[in-house]
Amino acid sequence: MKVAFITGGAQGIGENIARLFVKHGARIVIADIQDDLGQSVCNDIGLDKATFVHCDVTIESDVENAINMTLAKYGKLDIMINNAAIINDLKANILDNEQSSFEQVMRVNVTSVFLGTKHAARAMIPARSGNIIMMGSVSGSIGGLVSHAYSSSKHAIVGLTKNIAAELGQYEIRVNCLSPYFIRSPTTIEATKEHHEKYSNIYSNLMCTK
Ligand SMILES: NC(=O)c1ccc[n+]([C@@H]2O[C@H](COP(=O)([O-])OP(=O)(O)OC[C@H]3O[C@@H](n4cnc5c(N)ncnc54)[C@H](O)[C@@H]3O)[C@@H](O)[C@H]2O)c1
Repeated sequence: MKVAFITGGAQGIGENIARLFVKHGARIVIADIQDDLGQSVCNDIGLDKATFVHCDVTIESDVENAINMTLAKYGKLDIMINNAAIINDLKANILDNEQSSFEQVMRVNVTSVFLGTKHAARAMIPARSGNIIMMGSVSGSIGGLVSHAYSSSKHAIVGLTKNIAAELGQYEIRVNCLSPYFIRSPTTIEATKEHHEKYSNIYSNLMCTK
């Protein structure tokens, strides 16, 4: 039985990963800041298989406590999914972009992956086993799709993945980055609601909630 920890699992891709993993026999921990939503997803999956923990992935003590809770409950951690992220407003003109917004996206999308990986590695290195998966994006390799901040953050994740993989391989820990294209989720639905017709043609409709 595998134990998986999924950041940003209260909705969207993370929620679907959680549901799919449970279908395949895993036990999952959802770590998110949306407490009611995350808890209701766990209730729906079944509390014998799913646990919610409040965790702001930008705060190291939250991440540390959430991983400790997972280890206390299940005794191990097999899979870390660094999925939580935000997307800020697309302001195509760099002169309109604020430093604070750029830094917030980097903190939620990149610093969180560093913290999640650090505390997952703390559990996985002694076990000499584990899988760490970062959620990248097509905008981590192609420019001009989304905001400068989001694109920068997803490029950074690719570099972080390579560097961490180079270190953790010696402990039999695999580190990979998944880079989806455009997938229907609460955030992308909201971001494209004014152009639903245009975007409905390019969505991947693989969301399989419930
Ligand atoms: N949907 C797409 O088209 C698409 C494409 C490429 C990459 N991605 C990536 O896939 C991942 C999931 O995307 P999604 O569309 O499901 O997003 P989403 O916004 O629907 O879900 C993100 C989740 O992260 C949580 N979150 C945000 N900030 C947090 C924080 N500080 N601490 C803890 N949790 C936090 C949110 O509460 C939410 O539950 C993201 O990394 C995103 O960049 C999505």
